[in-house]
Amino acid sequence: MPDSSVEAIAPHQIPAPLAQDSGTFRSWLKSEEAKALLALYRHAPLARRIELKLRLHICPFEIVADQVPGEGRILDLGCGYGLLSALLALRSPQRQVLGLDISAERVATSQAAGRALPNVAFAQADVTLADFGWADGIVMNDLLHHIPHTHQIPLLAKCYQALPPDGVLIIKDVDKSVLWKYIWNYAHDFLKNRNLPFYCLDSPILTALLELVGFQVEVCHIDSGYTYPHVLYRCLKA
Ligand SMILES: C[S@@+](CC[C@H](N)C(=O)[O-])C[C@H]1O[C@@H](n2cnc3c(N)ncnc32)[C@H](O)[C@@H]1O
Repeated sequence: MPDSSVEAIAPHQIPAPLAQDSGTFRSWLKSEEAKALLALYRHAPLARRIELKLRLHICPFEIVADQVPGEGRILDLGCGYGLLSALLALRSPQRQVLGLDISAERVATSQAAGRALPNVAFAQADVTLADFGWADGIVMNDLLHHIPHTHQIPLLAKCYQALPPDGVLIIKDVDKSVLWKYIWNYAHDFLKNRNLPFYCLDSPILTALLELVGFQVEVCHIDSGYTYPHVLYRCLKA
């Protein structure tokens, strides 16, 4: 008979961040790691540096990075200004990180910041068209809701194809489970990225799409303390 006193823990269960230290003013922002990350952008214009510092406040980069394999070829799709790629590279010299983004301006800023790190590179690419080759791990931080619905399943399938058995795709995106946070996020994106579309999927729907493609999926809502509806998906190629 199974021992009901011991709660089974799934091997890859995503740990929810501790409520008292998650959110916009979490202690990680004052860590040496966060300071080293921002220091890579010291040559960027002041307005950009302020924007990137705010970005670290509103998005749990360190929690996303915790889920990414510690070694091998890692793709960061829709890398923006390269914050997550650079954090992954800073954390482990055993990673070779490639950040891809459609914006030439964002890629140029990423390349300038990444010059100090031997294990990160950036390239301009539309991820819906690019050939990924292979990867040990893939991450998308707030990319998927900018990809038109018709391109989302082919993109997820391409990630699946690029990974080895037991490879992981980590997705951090937003959903509609807390309506006011969704509206806040929508307004933020509308004001900041008017040129980018917004195709948010609810987490049960995205989970179903990922399972359709072949992934085993674990989902964790990590929005405690944030005004944004952050959701983390750990997708294992079984
Ligand atoms: C909300 S930003 C997130 C950036 C970064 N991942 C971060 O978390 O800071 C979304 C990014 O996706 C990029 N993007 C949108 N569509 C893309 C596409 N088809 N191919 C590559 N990048 C794309 C945008 O240029 C933008 O930098």
